Amino acid sequence: MSLRLVVLISGSGSNLQAILDACGQSGGAARINARVVGVLSNKADAFGLARATRAGVVSTVLDHTSYAGREAFDQAMITAIDAWQPDVVVLAGFMRILSAGFVQHYQGRLLNIHPSLLPRHKGLHTHRRVLEAGDAEHGCSVHFVTPELDGGPVIAQTVTRVEADDTETTLSDRVHAGEHRLYPAVLGWLADRRLQYRDEQPWLDGQQLTQPVRF
Ligand code: GAR
Repeated sequence: MSLRLVVLISGSGSNLQAILDACGQSGGAARINARVVGVLSNKADAFGLARATRAGVVSTVLDHTSYAGREAFDQAMITAIDAWQPDVVVLAGFMRILSAGFVQHYQGRLLNIHPSLLPRHKGLHTHRRVLEAGDAEHGCSVHFVTPELDGGPVIAQTVTRVEADDTETTLSDRVHAGEHRLYPAVLGWLADRRLQYRDEQPWLDGQQLTQPVRF
């Protein structure tokens, strides 16, 4: 049985595309034993919705501005997501802060990708902040989500050296390319039951990860 993924997006959905490609849902061969069974966006104009349609995946839009507050919106998301019976909920450029209730509902099966080497540069504008700080390295992280924003245990990271002539655009392009390798790889580990969440920590191949896998 393949791992059932529900992917949450707010924008372009290039990570969604990388996941669809890895699952063999965009024409090529499957590289991981998983499939995207639903896509949810909080933005009606998210380009990722067209990617889902092209792959024959159902999607839904829940506009957060039409709900009374965060709790009401998150409850509506839970109802929509659970109707797809996911094994894993994948945040892929979903730009909303989640309530503790939402996170607890999916704890251990809720993943996020963030464009920095966490715990450095939580939050927004990470590429700019890496340049301003003069960091030698940058990259992206996939982590289990906990109620602390961008604070859950990191599973794996891709790393890129920051070059003297890098701009926000060149850095962002390289980090994005890393994201497109990283997310499918981590989802493949989950699909193969190599990656587990025990005692609020990631375990890979029976060993607790004391630091993120780097590649
Ligand atoms: C990605 O770079 C992802 O890491 C970032 O949004 C982008 C979405 O791109 N997520 C966050 O910043 C979450 N804190 P995409 O829509 O092309 O996948």
